[in-house]
Amino acid sequence: MNNSYEAVMARKNSIMKDSVGIDYDKFEGDNINFDYEAMMADCGFTLDEVRKIQSDYGVGNTPLKECKNITALARKVSKPGYGARIFIKDEALNDSGSFKARRASMACFQAKKLGFKGVIAATSGNYGAAVASQAAKHGLKCIIVQECFDSKGIGQPEIVEKARACEAYGAEVIQLSVGPELFYKFLLLLEETGYFNASLYTPYGVMGIESLGAELIEDSLKMIGKIPDMVVCTNAGGGNLTGTARGIVKTTSKKVQIVGASVNLKGLHMASDIDFNLKSFTTGHTGFGLPFMINPDRSDVPRSAGRPLRYIDRYVTVNQGEVFFMTETLTALEGIERGPAGNTSLAAAFSLAQELKEDQVIIVQETEYTGAGKHHQAQLSFARQNGIDIFFGNPKEEIPGKNIILPKTVDLIKIQELDLDQIRKKYIQTQLTKTDSLTKSDIEFLAIETNTNIPYIMDEINKYHIAVED
Ligand SMILES: Cc1ncc(COP(=O)(O)O)c(C=O)c1O
Repeated sequence: MNNSYEAVMARKNSIMKDSVGIDYDKFEGDNINFDYEAMMADCGFTLDEVRKIQSDYGVGNTPLKECKNITALARKVSKPGYGARIFIKDEALNDSGSFKARRASMACFQAKKLGFKGVIAATSGNYGAAVASQAAKHGLKCIIVQECFDSKGIGQPEIVEKARACEAYGAEVIQLSVGPELFYKFLLLLEETGYFNASLYTPYGVMGIESLGAELIEDSLKMIGKIPDMVVCTNAGGGNLTGTARGIVKTTSKKVQIVGASVNLKGLHMASDIDFNLKSFTTGHTGFGLPFMINPDRSDVPRSAGRPLRYIDRYVTVNQGEVFFMTETLTALEGIERGPAGNTSLAAAFSLAQELKEDQVIIVQETEYTGAGKHHQAQLSFARQNGIDIFFGNPKEEIPGKNIILPKTVDLIKIQELDLDQIRKKYIQTQLTKTDSLTKSDIEFLAIETNTNIPYIMDEINKYHIAVED
C-alpha cells in the first residue's frame, strides 16, 4: 500500500469510516447542512443508558461543592447585594482525573461492543489518560498519539505528565513534535492496527458529557433547592460545552445561562514550533476555542458532535495570570488542589459572580487533577525558563508569550467579553465558502447552528453573492 502523506490523506474518509463505525454520509443534506440530531440519536444510547454505563465503569456522580470562601472574596469586591454563590462540580474525582472520563467511557464501551481489539486517540490532553483508563477496564489495547515536543525536543511539562499517566494505565504513547504529521501518523496507525478511533468528536464522546449537565441540575436541586442561574464551561474544541448544555436541556425546561470561558492566548499560533512552549496552557484556550467555534468540522471526524455555537449564551476570556492566581486561591482558601482547565472557568466565575445577586448561583462545571508537570508551579517555572516575565500587576496588560501578569489585587480579575455576534458571522462566512448555492434546508441549518433565526441568516447571506434555491 502507498503510505506517502498524499496517499494516506486521500484514503482519510474510508479509514475513518472503518475505524469509527459511523457512516457520516447518511446524515448529509443539501450543500452544507447535515442532520445533527439524527447523527446523535443514531448512536443508539439514551441519557439513562449513558449514565448506567458510566456508573458501571467508575465514571460520574461526582460531588458538587460550594466554594464559600471564594464567594466571600468575590463579595468583598462586589457592589452591595451582589456576589453570586460559586459552586464547582468536582470532576477531578472521576477515574483518570477529569470529565474526559465521561467521553472515553462511551467510546471504549462502543469499541468493545463492536468487537474492536483496541482504541486509538490523538490527544495531548486529559483525554489520553481517560481513554487509557477506560481501555484498561475493558481489556482493550490502547495507543495515544501526542504532539508533545518542539523541534528541539523540549516537551511541554503538562503533556509530558499526561504521557506518564497514559503509560501508567498501560497505553502505548507515541510522542511527536509540532506539525502536520500527527494526523498522518494517526491515520496510518488506525489502518495498520484496525483499532477503534476513539475521537473526541464522535457522538459517543459528546453524549458521554450529557450526564454531567444532567447531574449538575440534579445536584443543585438536591443541595440548594433550585437550578443554577449560570453554568461556566471551559471551552476548547467545544465538546465540553455542547455535551453539558445538552444534558441540562434534557433535564430541565428552565433556562440556564451557558457561558464558555477560555484562556486568552491571542497572538500565539497553535501550529508554530516557536510558540508551542511559550503557552502555559495546553487546552481551554482561545487557540482552540475560536477556530473550533467558527468551524467545528475541522476535527478528526467528518462531522463534529461538538457544536458550541448552538448552545452558548456568552463567551468570555480570562488571562493566564488570572487563572494561575485562581488556582492558588482555590488551594489556599478552599483546600482543593486542582489543575488548570477547570480553574479557567473558576477565574471567569469569580468575575461573573460580581454581576449577579447574592442569592443567585453559578456552577463551574468541572475541575481536573493536577500534579507533576500539570501543576501551576511547574508551568510557571517552565514559562520562566522560556524567557516569560512573571510579575504582579494588571492582567489586562498581559501579552501571551511575553509575560504572565498575576493580579495585584483581586478586583483586577475581570472577564473580557468576546463578541458572539462577530463569531456567528464568521461561522456563517466559513460555511458559505464551502458552497455556491443554498437551499431552504441549508438556511434553516445555519439558523440552528448559530442559535439565531432565518431573518438574521438572510441578512448575512445577502452580503455575499450566493444563489438561494427555491
Ligand atoms: C479538563 C478539561 N477541561 C476542559 C477541556 C475543554 O474541552 P473541549 O475541548 O471539549 O472544549 C478539556 C479539553 O482538553 C479538558 O481536558
